[in-house]
Amino acid sequence: MVSAIYYSSQTGHTRQYARLLAEALSLPWYDMARRVPAPKSREVIYMGWLFAGKVKGYEKAAKENRVKAVCATGMSPPSDKLTESIRAANKIPADVPVFYMQGGFNMKALPLPLRGIMYFKNKSIAAGLRKVDAMNAHQAATFRMTQKAYSAVDRKNLDPVIAWYNSL
Ligand SMILES: Cc1cc2nc3c(=O)[nH]c(=O)nc-3n(C[C@H](O)[C@H](O)[C@H](O)COP(=O)(O)O)c2cc1C
Repeated sequence: MVSAIYYSSQTGHTRQYARLLAEALSLPWYDMARRVPAPKSREVIYMGWLFAGKVKGYEKAAKENRVKAVCATGMSPPSDKLTESIRAANKIPADVPVFYMQGGFNMKALPLPLRGIMYFKNKSIAAGLRKVDAMNAHQAATFRMTQKAYSAVDRKNLDPVIAWYNSL
């Protein structure tokens, strides 16, 4: 039985989703960066932010706990292709559902080395999106993130996770 949410967050967006999900499911939530980790061997929903396609902290969580679902947040627009690439890049077993929810981006909240990486990355993401004729809402949100701090965190993005949990 899933009895906790375990998460990792660098700039707070995944933390917001973890809090919203914890409230929706009435589960305790544990920050991987804190000294009190999720109790070992528990069945957990793991939530982490995307770093070059990797779900931060997933590997550690999968060693310590029984991860029953993975929720990844990132700045990309959601798509089935993205969800499948997250599964492949992180070697998430086929029987573990993967959910992706658009988070946010805040350059000023990042440590300096990561700012350097993202300064150039954001320029190339923005250049790609400028070529899109009519951006959809998710693409527009990603574009905004490349220009200034912007959050697309929305409780509705958790609906598929909540539906999955309620079907257990
Ligand atoms: C170094 C770095 C790499 C990133 N790589 C990706 C990525 O591969 N895909 C993506 O969609 N977002 C990527 N992002 C964006 C973050 O995943 C996004 O801002 C996320 O919402 C941050 O969550 P947090 O606020 O909980 O830390 C990257 C951000 C940084 C700083």
